[in-house]
Amino acid sequence: MDNKNISMDKIVNVCKTQGFVFQGSEIYGGFANTWDFGPVGVELKNNIKRAWWKRFVQEDPSTYGIDAAILMNPKVWEASGHVSSFGDPKMDCKKCKQRFRADTLIESFSNGEVAAEAMSNEELEKYIQDNHIVCPSCKGFDWTNIRKFNPMFKTTRGTLEDGADVVYLRPETCQGEYTNYLNVQRTTRAKVPFAIAQIGKSFRNEITPGNFLFRTIEFEQMELQKFCKEQESMDIYADYKSKALEFVQDLGLSKDKLRYHDHDKLAHYAKAACDIQYKFPIGWEELNGIHHRGVWDLSRHSEFSGKALDYQDPETNEKFIPNIIEYSIGADRLTLAILCEAYDEEQLENDTREVMHFHPAIAPYKVSVLPLVKKFHTEKAKEVYKMLSKEFMTSYDETGSIGKRYRRQDVIGTPYCITVDDNTINDGTVTIRDRDTMEQITLKLEDVVDYISKKIKF
Ligand code: GAP
Repeated sequence: MDNKNISMDKIVNVCKTQGFVFQGSEIYGGFANTWDFGPVGVELKNNIKRAWWKRFVQEDPSTYGIDAAILMNPKVWEASGHVSSFGDPKMDCKKCKQRFRADTLIESFSNGEVAAEAMSNEELEKYIQDNHIVCPSCKGFDWTNIRKFNPMFKTTRGTLEDGADVVYLRPETCQGEYTNYLNVQRTTRAKVPFAIAQIGKSFRNEITPGNFLFRTIEFEQMELQKFCKEQESMDIYADYKSKALEFVQDLGLSKDKLRYHDHDKLAHYAKAACDIQYKFPIGWEELNGIHHRGVWDLSRHSEFSGKALDYQDPETNEKFIPNIIEYSIGADRLTLAILCEAYDEEQLENDTREVMHFHPAIAPYKVSVLPLVKKFHTEKAKEVYKMLSKEFMTSYDETGSIGKRYRRQDVIGTPYCITVDDNTINDGTVTIRDRDTMEQITLKLEDVVDYISKKIKF
């Protein structure tokens, strides 16, 4: 079955019943647009983050990782423009009083074809009027004018709540990469071009969150900033466009559900910007962004901090502020894309099965150990479990028929199931079943770790 026929509700339901994702604060009736990752969800998301880190940090000698604090000096957000000008263009429906982002309304209406985030408020209002875009909630057509809404969550530091100690929960992780750029450069002796990457939580008081993990108020970003000379910057930009696409394809997203969306209108400092869009069950939507940010970020931080942020070329002694190419992808949004892509309902000869065709490298469990008959094979199976769990996330299941146990592993995407039976006890062999082909082969117990290790390489 092609996932174009699978609704978001179906994915939400499978996630809930299988322990991928639960509603946040569920026993209190939930807390809108927050989600908790369950036992298999946390493994999946961690594996996705690890795959990203491996590809972009471990395998690239010119990229260095950091983990910056979520709470930063409030001046950071003045320099970045988040305090004064950053703001989502909100509109209220006068009929039902619901609040929406004007750019998101246009993007949904145009199925991602119109780059609304780069439009001015006047252009957004005109487009909505000209195209008679109605309220998604009550279908009315009676909008307020657009007003700016700052989506940063504010809190206070210290005990006084008089506004003097306001701090913000970061709305993006990249500022920690900018503020640490010289620390990283000095300590690693990196030469331009080099990159800084990090994975961490961001928070946005989104006006129109929703669609499950797609747009939430708390989420994780995987961001990378490449610091480079202007002359090489467009090549690096093009390179990250290809690398970003290749990465998500290698993780299993199909080519025909991915496309580039180059922005025609750019922020005043930007030289180029592109999203990679994925065809979610809700339509074509942004999966990640690649941005050529010029010298904007470092120049602003230099101005606001009063610190020179020039890079000095060790060969020419030339001093300059590097250009920045940014690659940014949401870990939760990518997890959602992978869940949508991997989920399938397959019609078998006498049965149907639900299965998650995850790439084995990101599957929550790599292998499940199943004693064929609980009474006779449990002891040996526990031995096998002990051996395998030292190497991989391994599950163990001894309840129900072997067919039912296979189905339970299929729907959480376990790529291999090992059946422990009399042969395991007598001659040290096991049967190993492949999730996708459902074929079984016999292996010697001592060869299993090697066999699985090869299969789960990324
Ligand atoms: N530093 C650049 C930046 O933050 P962005 O386009 O606002 O750019 C980058 O965000 C990526 O972060 C998006 O492509 C998306 O994958 C993810 N993202 C942004 N807002 C999100 C939200 N509210 N919920 C989930 N993921 C989000």
